[in-house]
Amino acid sequence: MEDIVMTGISKTYGDKTVFRDFSAVFPAGEVCSIMGPSGCGKTTLLRMILGLEEPDGGTIRGVPERKAAVFQEDRLCPGISAVENAVLVVGRGREKEARDLLTELGLGDSLELPCAELSGGMRRRAALCRALLAEGELLVLDEPFKGLDAGSRRTAAALTLSHRRGRTLLYVTHETAEAELLGGKVCRIP
Ligand SMILES: Nc1ncnc2c1ncn2[C@@H]1O[C@H](COP(=O)(O)OP(=O)(O)OP(=O)(O)O)[C@@H](O)[C@H]1O
Ligand SMILES: [Mg+2]
Repeated sequence: MEDIVMTGISKTYGDKTVFRDFSAVFPAGEVCSIMGPSGCGKTTLLRMILGLEEPDGGTIRGVPERKAAVFQEDRLCPGISAVENAVLVVGRGREKEARDLLTELGLGDSLELPCAELSGGMRRRAALCRALLAEGELLVLDEPFKGLDAGSRRTAAALTLSHRRGRTLLYVTHETAEAELLGGKVCRIP
């Protein structure tokens, strides 16, 4: 596993410059929070690391092939349950693991409901469960606890750390309290 190294990154949308000569290192196997005001480019940064967005200039090295993500939006299939959404990604045969983790996350009463019928905070945890169970060397979480109350946040943070399995973890948050729950180095985008 390698450090993820971004060097001299530039990214512009139309006449809006989001990154100009931006560099950062995310050490392999460590936890790092990405913080900064709304619109500063946190999601764009993660999307460039995931290969979903191409920088206009600069290089990104060390991104492993296999990675899991919670995107800023949940991206769940609405017609199927949280268990089925997880299994769709992590593979058949892992239903029990998904049910157990969702139960720990507080969704024990709603395991069979289609995701369209879950609350926003429940959908967030369904997306988190899917990413935590996935294989790979990198875990990327964009505001993973959005919509969760303080108690659920603490539980979700503890489960995120216990299911990290040594993977590099990059997460976006607006909250210092949340950054304290997950810990790690802080990367601030101005
Ligand atoms: N596909 C796109 N087309 C045009 N502009 C975009 C696109 N994606 C992002 N932007 C712009 O890039 C800037 C950074 O957006 P980004 O979503 O990365 O911010 P963010 O830091 O994640 O904000 P938030 O905290 O609100 O999620 C914003 O000004 C946004 O309008
Ligand atoms: Mg964002």
